[in-house]
Amino acid sequence: MMTKIYQNILILTGAGISAESGLATFRSANGLWNNHPVEDVATIEGFQRNPALVHEFYNGLKEEIQKAKPNAAHLAITELQKNYPGQINVVTQNVDTLHEKAGNRNVYHIHGQINQAVCLNCGHILETFGDVDMQTACPHCQVAGMMKPNIVFFGENLLCMNEVDRLLRSCDLFVSIGTSGVVYPAAGFVQTAKYYGADTIEFTLETTANNYLFDRHVYGPAGQTFPPYVEELKKKLPN
Ligand code: APR
Repeated sequence: MMTKIYQNILILTGAGISAESGLATFRSANGLWNNHPVEDVATIEGFQRNPALVHEFYNGLKEEIQKAKPNAAHLAITELQKNYPGQINVVTQNVDTLHEKAGNRNVYHIHGQINQAVCLNCGHILETFGDVDMQTACPHCQVAGMMKPNIVFFGENLLCMNEVDRLLRSCDLFVSIGTSGVVYPAAGFVQTAKYYGADTIEFTLETTANNYLFDRHVYGPAGQTFPPYVEELKKKLPN
C-alpha cells in the first residue's frame, strides 16, 4: 500500500499538529478541556448563558495562538503542496492559523478561526486578533453586543461542509495528523474517504478512537514523523 502516486490528497488535522508549536491540545493530561468546562466555553448554551466568559476564554487563547509559530509538520504540508503533483487540501479542526502561517494553501477551517468573530445581527465576519467582547460593535451594521467568536461550538453546524464532502468523495489518500478521532462529524471523515476508495494513514501519539479505519499508523510527534513521510511520497514520483 502507499506505493502509488496520489492525485488527490486530503489532510485532516487536529490539535496534535499544533502541540509542537506550544499550543495545548484538548484531551491530553493538561489539555484545554481539563482546565475549562466544555459546557461553559464551547457550547452554544454556554455562550447564551455567559457570553462575557466565552469572549474572555477565546481572547486569552488568541494571545497564545498569535505568538505561536508553525512547526516542521505544518511546513512539510507546504513542501508537499509545492513539490507533489495533484490536489492537496487541508481540512483542519484547529482554530489557530498555523497552517496559513506555514504557507499552506487550500485550508478549510471546519471549526472556525480564533481570529474571526461573527455578528449575530448581520452575519458580518470581523477578522481580528484583538479582544472582542459584548461591547464590541459590528463594523458592518454598527450593532454592539452581538459579536460571537467565529468558533463552531458543540451543537452548531460545521463550516465548509459542502466542499469537505466533495473532497472526501474524491480523495485517493486520506492523511490524519494529530486528532484523537472522538469528535464527530470530523471523526467520521476517514470512513467516508475509505468508502470512496482512499488509502488512509494517521499520524498521532497514541491509539485513536477510530484507528481501525486506518491502513497505516505512524506514532510519534508529527514534527518528526510527517516530514519523512512527505519525502517517502516524493520518492515515488518519476524523476
Ligand atoms: N504529534 C502528533 N500527534 C499528537 C501530538 C504530536 N506532537 N501531540 C498530541 N497528539 C495527538 C494526541 O495523541 C491526540 O490523538 O493529537 C490528538 C489530540 O486530540 P484532542 O486533544 O482530542 O484534539 P482534537 O482531536 O483536535 O479534538 C477535536 O474536539 O473539543 C473539540 O473543537 C475541538 O477541534 C477540537 C475537536
